[in-house]
Amino acid sequence: MSKKHDNQFITMVSVVIGGLIGLAIGIFVFARDVGNHTSGGRLDDPDYVREVRERTAPIGRLAIAGQDNSALAIIGSAAAMTAPAVSTAVLSGAEVYKGTCLACHGTGVGGAPKYGDRAAWAPRLAQGAALLHQHALAGLTGKAGVMPAKGGRADLSDQSVINAVDYIAAAAR
Ligand code: HEC
Repeated sequence: MSKKHDNQFITMVSVVIGGLIGLAIGIFVFARDVGNHTSGGRLDDPDYVREVRERTAPIGRLAIAGQDNSALAIIGSAAAMTAPAVSTAVLSGAEVYKGTCLACHGTGVGGAPKYGDRAAWAPRLAQGAALLHQHALAGLTGKAGVMPAKGGRADLSDQSVINAVDYIAAAAR
């Protein structure tokens, strides 16, 4: 091979390598640009972050009677942060029992006297209705277990809870 051919070859290789390096830089810059527009940097955008929070928010939260549910208020929205408004609605004893008290009194969870269990209720009924009402409203930590105030439903009106006590008491007489 002549010296001339060597020079031509080196020039060709240099041009090709230069071209490839240019292409690689071009792809790198392009990829960064695309990345900036689709993901990177958007976490600084308050609107974007708020939208993600909304879309990924839990659809529901479960308050468990007798447990500390204060965390619900902290992670909740503005509405959940305010204390539950006490309803003025007066529900029937059966309604309140099925919706709230049944959870424990239905099967005797945590030592709760069972619905319709005359023997378990006899000594309690003997205390008189006023005291039963008071214990259901304010809660009671007794020998059997913990009866949360209003069965854990602070939003129930007093009369609704009283109706539920009378409903449970009637079934145990
Ligand atoms: C988290 C479980 C739980 C729920 C929910 C619950 N109770 Fe109770 N309740 C108990 C337990 C446990 C006792 C027994 C406490 C003891 O005497 O040691 C009890 C006792 C009672 C007593 C007897 C109080 C006394 O003086 O002997 C009444 C009345 C009562 N509950 C009414 C209700 C009503 C009405 C509801 C629904 C609004 C309700 N409970 C929901 C667990 C529960």
